[in-house]
Amino acid sequence: PKAQKLQTSYYKDMSSEYIKFEGILFPKGYSIKHLKFCRDEFVVKNTDVIVVTYPKSGTNWVIEIISLIHSKGDTTWVQSIPIFERSPWVEVKASQPLLCKKEQNGPRFYSSHLPIWLFPKSYFQSKAKIIYVMRNPKDVIVSLYHFTKVLKWSPFYSPSAVPFGSWFDHTCGWLSLRGNENFLILTYEELLQDLWGNVEKICHFLGTKLKEEEVNLVVKNASFSAMKANKMSNYSILPDEIMDHSQGSMLRKGIAGDWKNHFTVAQSEAFDKLFQERMAELDQRLFPWDPT
Ligand code: A3P
Repeated sequence: PKAQKLQTSYYKDMSSEYIKFEGILFPKGYSIKHLKFCRDEFVVKNTDVIVVTYPKSGTNWVIEIISLIHSKGDTTWVQSIPIFERSPWVEVKASQPLLCKKEQNGPRFYSSHLPIWLFPKSYFQSKAKIIYVMRNPKDVIVSLYHFTKVLKWSPFYSPSAVPFGSWFDHTCGWLSLRGNENFLILTYEELLQDLWGNVEKICHFLGTKLKEEEVNLVVKNASFSAMKANKMSNYSILPDEIMDHSQGSMLRKGIAGDWKNHFTVAQSEAFDKLFQERMAELDQRLFPWDPT
């Protein structure tokens, strides 16, 4: 009980570290003014390529893949520019100058964790391409749990207080766009199973033609070990005030099914029940992860 009391007061104290916009919690550091600007005024261009995910679903992996596809497997760009500058977060105010100056060769890349109803409205009148990446939510929560220890500005999350809202709402919202020709759905588990095939799928979606040896280079340079060793992609360049590198790293395990090392049987069953209730109406083949 003593520990529980301590925990309760901890949640209470930390709750002020969130900001809330339209009922969704965001880590401190986000701004309501900018979230409004992002939804109502940010202009999405037809040529934009946007990686959209619920946090910890493989966002950075897919950013690395599209960066490498852009440079035909060559590592100069991914080894010289930080990943969060190659594909800045549209909902983060500090990204705006990068997004404005990004008249780079080829498309503008950026990323977002926003749920569909807070996403820039102009997207829905555009031909911009979105890659939506999903991951087994049990592994998402495990990855998020470990990441909150590393990322200093993330508050302590409780089951009812997670950033960017509920995984179910996020996923159901974005999946409403499935079937649109400019909307590609990928899963973390399928990327793990067949990276080669998925790189080809992404190339096709982006309209980029790569030679076989270039696809091989993308696959090699977007591997877990290559990314973990690349300081422009592994977040090790972020200062200690933002990330406590002694607590772990962004590229932690990079596997599917780590939830089995963290969930009790009862927790897993309770989650499966909730999943069935919330996702029953969707085609279950959309979710390729092992349910047990
Ligand atoms: P784990 O914490 O389970 O290891 P995001 O980029 O959305 O924050 O997701 C982070 C998760 O993606 C982490 O999961 C990280 O290890 C994993 N990841 C990043 N790059 C990867 C890669 N090249 N191969 C496999 N997993 C990768």
